[in-house]
Amino acid sequence: MTYEHLFTPLRIGSMTVRNRLVMAPHGMVFAAGYGSGVDRVIDYHVERAKGGVGLMVMSNFLTLPSSRRLASWGDALATTPLGNLDVANDTTLLPAYRRLIERVHAHGTRFVSQLNASGRQLHAPGGVGFTLPLMAPSPQSCRKLQEIPKEMTVADIEEYVATFADAAFNIREAGGDGVELFAAQGYLLSEFLSPHVNLRHDRYGGSFDNRLRFLSEIVEAIRARLGRDFVVGVRMNADDDEPGGLDLAAATRVAQALRARGDVDYLNVSGMTASRYPGWIADIESPTAHFAAHAGAIRVAVDGMPVCVVSRIATAAEAEAVLAAGQADLVGMARALISDPELPNKARAGREDETRYCTFSNQACLQGLDRGRGVGCVHNVAVGREAQLGVGTMRPAAASKRIAVVGGGPAGMAAARIADARGHAVTLFERSDRLGGQNRMTARVASRRGFVEVTRWQETMLRRSGVALRLECAVDADALLAMGFDAIVLATGSTPSRDGRSSFHDGDERFAADAAADRVFTTWDVFERPDAIGARVVVVDEDPHYAGTAVAEYLADTGHAVRLVSPHLHAGSSLHVYHLPALYRRLAAKGIAVTPHVVPLVFDGRTLTMRDRFGAAVLRFEDVDAVVLSIGNRADRTLFDALDGRVPELHAIGDCLAPRQIDHAIVDGERVGWML
Ligand SMILES: Cc1cc2nc3c(=O)[nH]c(=O)nc-3n(C[C@H](O)[C@H](O)[C@H](O)COP(=O)(O)OP(=O)(O)OC[C@H]3O[C@@H](n4cnc5c(N)ncnc54)[C@H](O)[C@@H]3O)c2cc1C
Ligand SMILES: Cc1cc2nc3c(=O)[nH]c(=O)nc-3n(C[C@H](O)[C@H](O)[C@H](O)COP(=O)(O)O)c2cc1C
Ligand code: SF4
Repeated sequence: MTYEHLFTPLRIGSMTVRNRLVMAPHGMVFAAGYGSGVDRVIDYHVERAKGGVGLMVMSNFLTLPSSRRLASWGDALATTPLGNLDVANDTTLLPAYRRLIERVHAHGTRFVSQLNASGRQLHAPGGVGFTLPLMAPSPQSCRKLQEIPKEMTVADIEEYVATFADAAFNIREAGGDGVELFAAQGYLLSEFLSPHVNLRHDRYGGSFDNRLRFLSEIVEAIRARLGRDFVVGVRMNADDDEPGGLDLAAATRVAQALRARGDVDYLNVSGMTASRYPGWIADIESPTAHFAAHAGAIRVAVDGMPVCVVSRIATAAEAEAVLAAGQADLVGMARALISDPELPNKARAGREDETRYCTFSNQACLQGLDRGRGVGCVHNVAVGREAQLGVGTMRPAAASKRIAVVGGGPAGMAAARIADARGHAVTLFERSDRLGGQNRMTARVASRRGFVEVTRWQETMLRRSGVALRLECAVDADALLAMGFDAIVLATGSTPSRDGRSSFHDGDERFAADAAADRVFTTWDVFERPDAIGARVVVVDEDPHYAGTAVAEYLADTGHAVRLVSPHLHAGSSLHVYHLPALYRRLAAKGIAVTPHVVPLVFDGRTLTMRDRFGAAVLRFEDVDAVVLSIGNRADRTLFDALDGRVPELHAIGDCLAPRQIDHAIVDGERVGWML
């Protein structure tokens, strides 16, 4: 495809970007403690500059110097303990920033630092460990954290203004091209703009001008300190999408006021707040480029001021369409560049089909953020490991071996690809007529349909590699031994448990459904034997991951009346805070009622009897046609047991090693590909 707009340069204030693709800011949480994550953070950003993005906006959190003093028990700590690159307060980080920015610039990418004050919606990294209060314009909690923030005093506001200016100064000292003030998505500066959140009666609340004052004073302070020769952008909401918040008309007024100042260089448009959390990190169910029309309206109103738009833009073609429609001058991508840092270069070179497109599943990227292990990606193993596994790090094996990979699911395909790239002669055996394994079922669920991309990418790359693909070829131990491979990798997956045995059963309890065995199903049956499943279904969501809720959604979408029961405190109990609100909205919309903390005991073909997990109360559902068990899988170890000790090298990976999730399967596969 030709891109008329995407790869053209643009002047933004004092800088020129080489193309219209922007890496949208995203926190990484690689820094487990002070300093330790610095190199990973640098490598992560450099990888994306190398991948061809024109402008990079890096997420950075600000903390107030007074908070730092509080956190460090009276200045006892020489550097910030807050676990992030807190550039405003900690000039010892400047050398690290210099290294980062020099290396980003060396690849032709411009560098802007976001300056993020989290307000009532997020504890600044490390803040919670030091019991620092949240700060907001008014003492009201938000839907996400439910914690009453400290109502900021005028002194707090003034300290923030000075801190923003310090941070901007330090970013310029480190060689940065500019800063982006984060006045969007319900964080601090956006809270001040919102009449819904800002209930102040002083000069920072009430009227439009008063609500804008905090942001204006920050811009003024930065300009007073740095002059015009430095980019200052503002990330703003086009619509808060909450009653009493900014709507498009009010947001347009904010944009025009910023335009009228004459010293703001660009606007970065998105929307929503914690009330729709995390709707701005839009999953696959949201429309493509869902803030583009809003951005287009704002772009018209600000008359020539560059406007960037972000959210759920997956491909270079989608970005080009936004630009061609005049909806924005720049297109931001966060997750699309997490899943493939080389998206810009691949598009430019016409290698789009080699791009590992984002699934918009909001799985590993956000779970990593939520659980503090750092951003990851379901199908890009190199995220956060760029130095070892990033672009250009492929290293040949010491000696080429003949390798069999058994199983063409995510794990097997990952192992085969890496082993082939390292110079081994690889044959992949798959018993079905198609590649993808269980992921083909996942991708049939509307809200997980993005997973089709995992298999598409893996298969495209495999078919271009030297791997010999043997589909419809179920191999057994004798056949494998006869072929005399140097190493065998087993990626045969797992099968769903059917017996209803639960770790929540006490004593002699068990799930008794002997008389109705033909009405008890697994998650796989839902896809493989749909006609066998009656109209009124109860899904038992004991496996706390994705399968149970996904299958419940699928059944509802295909015309079943579905109830979801779970022995946990809620369904999908190990899913994360970025996934659950959207999931529960979908369950409600599909009429799927959830009954938590119950343990199924008996199903007689019509009545399902359950016990409360925490007591003796008994609950019965009548007129149940089918029970679908999502209670975890068993690893398929048949081949492993048959081959153990009989071949020079034997590995088990993915679900066949231990049934988990797709990202684990792919990591296992790539890891073994490197070990061979
Ligand atoms: C309904 C459902 C929803 C899910 N949702 C998610 C989700 O949202 N997120 C997530 O991370 N995970 C999800 N999972 C789990 C995920 O799909 C698995 O963890 C993942 O597919 C495991 O990959 P694998 O390659 O190890 O095994 P599999 O995907 O099971 O692949 C194994 C392959 O080996 C082949 N095979 C087996 N024996 C032989 C043999 N002897 N010879 C040749 N070939 C053989 C099989 O045909 C199969 O293709 C879901 C699973 C299901 C069922
Ligand atoms: C892991 C992750 C962390 C994020 N952190 C930030 C952040 O620190 N600041 C910010 O403005 N937006 C943050 N975002 C939001 C993104 O900038 C972007 O608006 C959102 O992901 C939608 O764009 P996308 O569809 O291109 O991913 C984050 C998004 C993700 C996925
Ligand atoms: S984990 Fe999923 S949603 Fe997140 S970046 Fe990777 S593919 Fe995209």
